[in-house]
Amino acid sequence: MNISKKLMLIVILTTVEVSITVFSAFEIAKGAKFHQLNFLHLKYINQLSKSINEIEIDKSIDTKTIESNILAIKQQPIDCLEEINILNKVIMEIINTNQALTICEKDIEVADTALSSLKQYENRAIDRHTFLTSLNHALYNFNEHSENFEEPIRKTVSFILITLIPLVLIISLFNILFISYLSRTISNSIHNLTLLLSSKPKDNINLDEDLEKNTTGELKALIIAARQRIREDFFNLENNKELQAIVKTQTASLQQANDELAQFAYRASHDLKSPLSGAKSLAQFVILDIEAGDTKEAINNAKIIYQQMEKLETLVVDILLLAKADISSEDITPIDFDQLIIDMKERLAWLMKDNPCTLETNITLSKPITSDKARFAQIIENVISNGLKYYDKTKPSPYVKCDIFDKSDILTIIVSDNGIGIPEQHQDEVFDMFKRFHVKNSTGSGLGMALVKKHIEFLKGDISFESSKDGTIFTITIPMDKQV
Ligand SMILES: Nc1ncnc2c1ncn2[C@@H]1O[C@H](COP(=O)(O)OP(=O)(O)OP(=O)(O)O)[C@@H](O)[C@H]1O
Ligand SMILES: [Mg+2]
Repeated sequence: MNISKKLMLIVILTTVEVSITVFSAFEIAKGAKFHQLNFLHLKYINQLSKSINEIEIDKSIDTKTIESNILAIKQQPIDCLEEINILNKVIMEIINTNQALTICEKDIEVADTALSSLKQYENRAIDRHTFLTSLNHALYNFNEHSENFEEPIRKTVSFILITLIPLVLIISLFNILFISYLSRTISNSIHNLTLLLSSKPKDNINLDEDLEKNTTGELKALIIAARQRIREDFFNLENNKELQAIVKTQTASLQQANDELAQFAYRASHDLKSPLSGAKSLAQFVILDIEAGDTKEAINNAKIIYQQMEKLETLVVDILLLAKADISSEDITPIDFDQLIIDMKERLAWLMKDNPCTLETNITLSKPITSDKARFAQIIENVISNGLKYYDKTKPSPYVKCDIFDKSDILTIIVSDNGIGIPEQHQDEVFDMFKRFHVKNSTGSGLGMALVKKHIEFLKGDISFESSKDGTIFTITIPMDKQV
């Protein structure tokens, strides 16, 4: 039985105990009232007896006094019957004292008979002698009833005293014992629990098991709920820590992106500015040349302006490509790598013309590759164009080779050359924007490898390279199962 049920039992027992006590007190008080009524009854009987005596010693009959005497005598049994309720009747039935009720009823009947004789005498229906006889008969019955009434009432009151009061005492005793047992159980449980919870953590490895063994009922439920709540709060705290860590790393990467963007804006505007200012000054020379009539020099300067503008256009196109690299494309189609190489060669015609470098491509694919064609085109073109640009003029047969093949859902692109190589001290800057290490050898924006890196990251692939004075090998791997 849990604590709340035990407490409920105590409440019920106490209510029963109080109800019985109150009931007993009322019943004992009622017994006293019945004695009082009987005493009053005897007083009025005595008055009636005196009136009868006066009539007998030949005084005239005062019917009004006699009537009021009889009515007064009749009132006590009426009061008595009104006082008795159903429960009293049941008890009197059980202990066989219900003759008290019969006595009351008979007393009322006797009083009614006496009153009707009085009326008959007043109407001269009976004579004085008959009237006196009936009065004496009533007086006798009243007296007898009064005598017989005391015994059942006394018996009823003593029954209540003998049975209900010991019952109240027994319930009270049981209640006291039960309450002390309950308070001892609760205080013991609390004491054990306090010891258990205040024990050192090293002795507390099996706290759940100990709780299971040493506690029961509501206390056990309370501790289990509290432990669960603490665990959840702790978990939330840990989660908050995790969130804080995520926010910290993301803020750091945002900061880095912001720095890169600022650097990019600076470098881009710087690189855009130089061909523009060059072209501006040359345009002024062209005007002066034309004014001086020197058309030959004017044409030369205009040609330089044209070259500067071409450079500018390339730079703007490269910057645009780089900016677009982070935006996902919706043009996902099966890629025809042979056609991709043909198109690339067309675009690189300016670089391949008069270039002693040979370009060899090998494409071996087990299944069609479906992905963002433009990204693949830009990756391959940039890496191959670098091989062609930075070839070694001192080597007899410069070459660039490109192998494209797949294995276990991984597409591999290997571009190798026997060019001048990337200086060792700059190898970790190859993918940075605007970094160029062979300015004299060829033109460029220094954005090609940064663009390649962005595309590969977008495709969840990887790029690495090995470079020395003998040449450079770029290896690109792209997992095809991770493509959208
Ligand atoms: N295969 C290579 N051999 C030797 N050097 C290389 C090779 N690839 C890249 N580099 C070096 O790395 C630098 C950066 O390459 P990246 O492609 O980013 O720029 P770029 O080719 O100079 O210009 P862009 O590609 O924008 O026209 C190059 O300028 C070059 O110095
Ligand atoms: Mg390049």
